Amino acid sequence: MAEKPSIPGNPEHDPRDFRNALGLFATGVTIVTTKTSAGEPIGLTANSFSSVSLSPPLVLWSLSLRSPNLPNFLQATHFAVNVLAQDQIALSQRFARPILNKFEGVAHRFAGSDMPLIDGAAAQFECRTEARHYSGDHVIFIGHVLHYSYTERPILGYFRGRYASIATISDIG
Ligand SMILES: Cc1cc2nc3c(=O)[nH]c(=O)nc-3n(C[C@H](O)[C@H](O)[C@H](O)COP(=O)(O)O)c2cc1C
Repeated sequence: MAEKPSIPGNPEHDPRDFRNALGLFATGVTIVTTKTSAGEPIGLTANSFSSVSLSPPLVLWSLSLRSPNLPNFLQATHFAVNVLAQDQIALSQRFARPILNKFEGVAHRFAGSDMPLIDGAAAQFECRTEARHYSGDHVIFIGHVLHYSYTERPILGYFRGRYASIATISDIG
């Protein structure tokens, strides 16, 4: 069968279609957490996480200007990135809603940097906020990784706007 031709688009004209194109870039799913100035744990689901630099060890993620948690992340000196395991879809859904007390009933602990680490995550990166860049409708947070840990757990994937399994990765090249 002939391959469908590539569809050219203008991101200014059709933001929905632009989102569809971006959604072809498969990612993992994280919950980025921090503490409010009152010491309450907060967090949100984010797939904008990416590595930036090995030396120094830097990562980034971006937060919508519309997030009610923006002031919390702007005042925080540290944050943690919890890379979700495949069996944590319910947590991803919970932290993708603008609700209060997202941590209620969610098993977590506070480790070296005193940031909330979610039990059962496949990997965790504790970061000191290194820089913030306002860019379009998001703020990019760059973190200097202070501590990390990881497991063999299969991670939760996200592709074309849906959760996906990437547990069966095999070497193709
Ligand atoms: C898979 C997935 C990835 C997401 N990635 C991001 C992201 O990178 N940045 C962001 O600001 N919101 C992202 N969101 C949306 C937020 O999780 C959602 O708006 C949430 O309500 C934000 O929490 P808050 O309203 O408590 O700030 C994502 C949602 C999902 C389901």
